[in-house]
Amino acid sequence: MNDSLLAERGSAGLKSAPDTREGEGATPRLARRPPPLGESILDAIGNTPLVELRKIVRNRGLEGRILGKLEYLNPGSSKKDRVALEVIRRARADGRLQPGQAVVEVTSGNTGTGLAIVCAAYGHPFIAVMSKGNTVERARQMAALGAEVVLVDQAAGGLSGQVSGCDLERVEQTAFELVAERGAFRPYQFESQDNCLAHETQTGPEIWEQAQGQVDAFAMISGTCGTYTGVMRYLRRMNPSVRGYMIEPARAAVLAGACADGARHKIQGTGYARRDLPLFDRTLVTELVQIDDAEAEEMARALAVEEGIFAGISTGANLSVALRLLAGPEKGNTIVIIACDSGLKYLSTDLYP
Ligand SMILES: Cc1ncc(COP(=O)(O)O)c(C=O)c1O
Repeated sequence: MNDSLLAERGSAGLKSAPDTREGEGATPRLARRPPPLGESILDAIGNTPLVELRKIVRNRGLEGRILGKLEYLNPGSSKKDRVALEVIRRARADGRLQPGQAVVEVTSGNTGTGLAIVCAAYGHPFIAVMSKGNTVERARQMAALGAEVVLVDQAAGGLSGQVSGCDLERVEQTAFELVAERGAFRPYQFESQDNCLAHETQTGPEIWEQAQGQVDAFAMISGTCGTYTGVMRYLRRMNPSVRGYMIEPARAAVLAGACADGARHKIQGTGYARRDLPLFDRTLVTELVQIDDAEAEEMARALAVEEGIFAGISTGANLSVALRLLAGPEKGNTIVIIACDSGLKYLSTDLYP
């Protein structure tokens, strides 16, 4: 997206208008100007809303604010559209990706959907390699977007809806073979600094601007660590005292030093139990926090019912930790979380029975 478009679609285009809803008092409502004409779907990526989760906080009698960045409103219904666009645009610009060349990537579904969209727009064949442990909605969405979806069997004892480090190793091997076979470009989302850059140059600055610099802490669950590292790099640059809480599924808490070999959990897109996470930067972490599946699920459901925000399990994890923090060390402060992807991607699971 070009800079002028970014500026026009940013919060500079927001205007306050009187709230006429009964019972809401003088709460100001934001009247948004529609974004200008886009050149393609790529211009619809990013510039997502940041909203205060007032009811969730108020209903629990807590002091402080939780601000949710609604990344599920991206075209592929997740924050990974930003990464896909950043990686492909840079690779095309510096010649690592040639016009018409195939792209292969390992995905839990969200990066793959982003890549399917971006590759469709730029005219690259895209092959998504995904574990059968991820939900079927993701595979269908990528296929609908023209991707070739290669589903990899889970390791022995694997459970549908739960992807382990062992499952991911099998997916990696398949991707490795496909890259050689098809002469493809591989974005390497676990290794690529472009993954962090998408969040350092877009998500972080958007949050800072939308929150008008009122950010005390950021709480985010980790997969590749791209979102956490990118956003925290920017927030710390703006205010070095911003606290960062990196979340891991309790059953795959390897960054916190737990032994999680073979551990399974339901928080898709996160907690791969990899000790080698090149995008993990401990200097940006105030505290490592763990969350279990049931708590994350419960808060995803509460977010839908109480705030009308229909998101996935990892969003429930982020919210749950933010609430714990408001009840503890961040009492009275403002915590930003990411609503990572849409609840629609979980309809085949027991998240929303
Ligand atoms: C739903 C969901 N939540 C959280 C994450 C973790 O984000 P990151 O890879 O930036 O650490 C992912 C990554 O794929 C995801 O798909």
